[in-house]
Amino acid sequence: MKVKDIINKANDDLIIGLSYLMDKSKSYLYLNSHEELTSDIEEKILSIEEDLNNGIPLQYALGYWEFLNISLIVDKRALIPRFETEIIVDYIIKSDFKKDKILDIGAGSGAISLSLSKNLPQSQVLGVDISDEALSLCNENKNNLNLTNVNFIKSDLFDNISDKFDIIVSNPPYINEKDYLALDKKLYHEPKLALYGGKDGLYFYKKIIDQANDYLNDQGHLIFEIGYDQKDPINELLVKSDFKNIINLKDFNGFDRFIIAQKG
Ligand SMILES: C[S@@+](CC[C@H](N)C(=O)[O-])C[C@H]1O[C@@H](n2cnc3c(N)ncnc32)[C@H](O)[C@@H]1O
Repeated sequence: MKVKDIINKANDDLIIGLSYLMDKSKSYLYLNSHEELTSDIEEKILSIEEDLNNGIPLQYALGYWEFLNISLIVDKRALIPRFETEIIVDYIIKSDFKKDKILDIGAGSGAISLSLSKNLPQSQVLGVDISDEALSLCNENKNNLNLTNVNFIKSDLFDNISDKFDIIVSNPPYINEKDYLALDKKLYHEPKLALYGGKDGLYFYKKIIDQANDYLNDQGHLIFEIGYDQKDPINELLVKSDFKNIINLKDFNGFDRFIIAQKG
């Protein structure tokens, strides 16, 4: 089988899958479409094709995915790390905020915690999740990446936290009941625990904002990824809890997707 036999199937996910397997760019594949696939890659890409035909997301079919500058094992134990989330991680890395101690609530695959710890070697990062499956994936990823400035513990939000932090970051579940019921079928392969944010989608923001002041150092920052239509209610909650210097950021499609606020 040749590269062009995959290209001719005109399935974007399959072509991205092949570029991952061959560790080559998409343009390389197009320019070298007569290249013969090794038997190993042929076997893998055919198995990925079967998974895709069964509705399994490409990232789970591949078993790993790039996030910022790290490669993560991804599987159904946790949410597939999204490209948009890289925006907020990059923002934190480049900010002049104090960031000696960082807490990531709802660590999932460990994408945020691990990319922060990799790029901020002076910081100490703690990732928490309520899901044992997600935590096992976080620890596998941590070991693979040989990172020592990050730890993961089980905690229902702040329940098992006694420390204070310079930054609390969270990409919590934020899909409301109505949207959850109407989700693209492919998304049901990801854990409901990672997606569903209560009837109005704001359950986790309310809980975190309510308690965050007790776990932030003075002048510390609370940083959220949010749903595209959640900016106003979350800004209001932050103001009510005395947060200041609130910044709203958009993703590359122009949707409101991130909020940064400072302890008042
Ligand atoms: C949207 S996912 C984010 C995963 C990862 N941080 C990312 O950005 O790819 C939300 C995560 O919150 C976790 N979670 C749900 N309820 C929680 C709770 N009460 N306490 C801590 N984590 C929780 C889920 O298990 C899931 O891993």
